[in-house]
Amino acid sequence: MEKLTYEESYELVKKEIQKALTGSPRIINDYLTHLSASQGKMIRATSVLICAEDSEGKIAPGAIYAAAAIEIIHLASLVHDDVIDNAHLRRGQETLQKKYGKRTAVICGDYLLSLALKMAAAIPNRKDYVDIDLPDYISRLCLGELLQHINNKNLNLTVFEYVKIISGKTAALFEASFLAGAILGGCSHEEVKKYKKIGNYVGLIFQLRDDCLDFDKTIEQAQKPVQSDYEQGVITLPLIHALERLPEFRKRAFDGNIVREDINRAVEEAGGLDYTRYIIERYYKKAGRCIDKLDVTEKKRRQVTTIMDKAAGKKVEI
Ligand code: IPE
Ligand code: IPE
Ligand code: MG
Ligand code: MG
Repeated sequence: MEKLTYEESYELVKKEIQKALTGSPRIINDYLTHLSASQGKMIRATSVLICAEDSEGKIAPGAIYAAAAIEIIHLASLVHDDVIDNAHLRRGQETLQKKYGKRTAVICGDYLLSLALKMAAAIPNRKDYVDIDLPDYISRLCLGELLQHINNKNLNLTVFEYVKIISGKTAALFEASFLAGAILGGCSHEEVKKYKKIGNYVGLIFQLRDDCLDFDKTIEQAQKPVQSDYEQGVITLPLIHALERLPEFRKRAFDGNIVREDINRAVEEAGGLDYTRYIIERYYKKAGRCIDKLDVTEKKRRQVTTIMDKAAGKKVEI
């Protein structure tokens, strides 16, 4: 098959995902069709495709299957995550678990993983497929989610442990996206290593930003619940910072004497969001230095930087 432009590839990724969801067997079709009715931001697919561009901006068709597979793995993780977080809203519509129940959602999440693996198997070159090693990235995602679950309501969670959690649950799949793009774009081993590193940083930035959204966005803006991480026992960096900075607040939190208003006030007083943004900025600079070292056209360097800007919540158009 011939190489494609970014726009052609992006359309094909969307089509492959829709086909996989809406063409599923009758017994599961209603559920997956419900999921297909609202699309996400597709930042992981975009990452795969941009990283896969050659010096003429053309993309090998294998990247389409990798991008679709990774988006479906991500979707499976969201379906399961909404069960764990008891969330009612996702991508502006009712979650699967709210509409059809938790048991159905768990089974559908599993089924989505099987769809993703089937999609990935369509990558034409066996060596590329093996080198991308999606199963290993799925393991890392699961272990990150498990570590987060084990630390549910753990007010002693350290910054180090928090970073370990988000490295697994979020950064792993971003790393996979950048790695897949680089491999399918025909990069050398040395170059692939650089993309992997950038993908990991972009993923950390993305989750740090998402953890700020829970404090600084409305449900309409986020299209999913906000002001809910603490309520679900998920301890994120803005709160860790407040707990470290404010001994009085820390004591009350340990006594179980805090409600949402206290948390928001404490995060505000301690500068929890500014601190999180400062950490984002540090990863942003580190990633930027890796992007500078990529052996690419200036256009592609700008595109990779744009993905990072999006992850960091900076206003940009791709
Ligand atoms: C949400 O990811 C889950 C996190 C890792 C924070 P996205 O914000 O990329 O979700 P969609 O795909 O756009 O809905
Ligand atoms: C991301 O964490 C979950 C996964 C990577 C599966 P969150 O729980 O913060 O994601 P949202 O905020 O519900 O999208
Ligand atoms: Mg969640
Ligand atoms: Mg979140």
